[in-house]
Amino acid sequence: MATEPRPIDPAKVKAGGERIFGYLKGMGVSAMIYLGDKLGLYQALHGAGPVTSEELAKKTGLHERWIREWIRGQAAAGIIDYQGDERFELSPEIGMFLADSNSPKLAVGIFSDLPQRMAVVERLPQAFKTGIGLNYDARGPEGARGIERVFGNWYRFTLVSQVLPKLDGVVSKLQAGAKAADIGCGSGVALVEMAKAFPQSAFHGYDISQHALARAEENKVQAGVKNLTFHDAKVDGLSTDASFDLITTFDCIHDMTHPFEMISVIRKAIKPDGTWFIADVKSLPTFEENLEKNPMTTLLYAFSVMGCMSSALSESGGAGLGTLGFNEAVARQATAGAGFTRFVRHDFENPLNAYYEVRL
Ligand SMILES: C[S@@+](CC[C@H](N)C(=O)[O-])C[C@H]1O[C@@H](n2cnc3c(N)ncnc32)[C@H](O)[C@@H]1O
Repeated sequence: MATEPRPIDPAKVKAGGERIFGYLKGMGVSAMIYLGDKLGLYQALHGAGPVTSEELAKKTGLHERWIREWIRGQAAAGIIDYQGDERFELSPEIGMFLADSNSPKLAVGIFSDLPQRMAVVERLPQAFKTGIGLNYDARGPEGARGIERVFGNWYRFTLVSQVLPKLDGVVSKLQAGAKAADIGCGSGVALVEMAKAFPQSAFHGYDISQHALARAEENKVQAGVKNLTFHDAKVDGLSTDASFDLITTFDCIHDMTHPFEMISVIRKAIKPDGTWFIADVKSLPTFEENLEKNPMTTLLYAFSVMGCMSSALSESGGAGLGTLGFNEAVARQATAGAGFTRFVRHDFENPLNAYYEVRL
């Protein structure tokens, strides 16, 4: 029996339209941020005080008419301050996110592979039909560089100086000469920083992304470190000989097709007194809790479909944890199930990640 259609609530129609077109606005502004970064416009504005579009065009060698349209849009979006009289200024507060390469808050890198992220979307209807997603190499070399730009400054500014000293006994072992691995190492910035700081220790990076491994080799050569080796985890995985003093996994367990198998490999690879240091996305155990309390939920689900869950389903039988899937509750259960007995959560003022120090 057909049910009576519910009467339409005009207030909800209005709010729904605003919400939907608000996301379209976000898409458009994101594309403009991508351009501002790619063309060096934020860099040119950073510390320059109020400028006109003519001045900015002259400084960057770009066409004034394009700059004028872009910068007016940036002012309308509340990113650049309009000072009146056709003068525009990038404030130092916004510059921290978009221009200041020494800022730990620099986040503009997340926009740097926007075209590649969006191009992947065209391939996702097929993934919805087959169930099989795309690994990180689907985004091309820009994908690996984009991730490097998202996380790189955190590794450069905090990993060695602030984070490792909080882990029980890790720094003294690395100073004396230890064996360490970073799994899902991406472009290797975390390892380069550790290899520079602890020349007595041997570091190993593992990833399955050819683009990430190629970029990691570049970063290693540029840094001139000799105590660092990268491995293609598909053909040369972590040895399960209880030889590692430190294993790190930064933002990658939830991306893996077989995360629980990886956890048992880590268990076998680590020394009895070794440390496994995990960074993974801050999320709450249930969908309801995330919906209510996690302001990142909308974005995290989008990133999951476009990247993390897709990667975690990129082989048949993949676990498909996805961006929100390796939260503290899952991490505690999975590590305990593999035989780890000690689990300490740390928070290192990162809005995206939670950190877990895990030991046998
Ligand atoms: C979000 S990125 C993080 C990269 C890096 N840890 C960082 O923080 O910049 C996730 C990485 O995990 C890698 N990955 C996924 N599955 C993997 C596996 N089974 N073994 C090793 N790496 C894997 C991906 O290729 C990708 O480079």
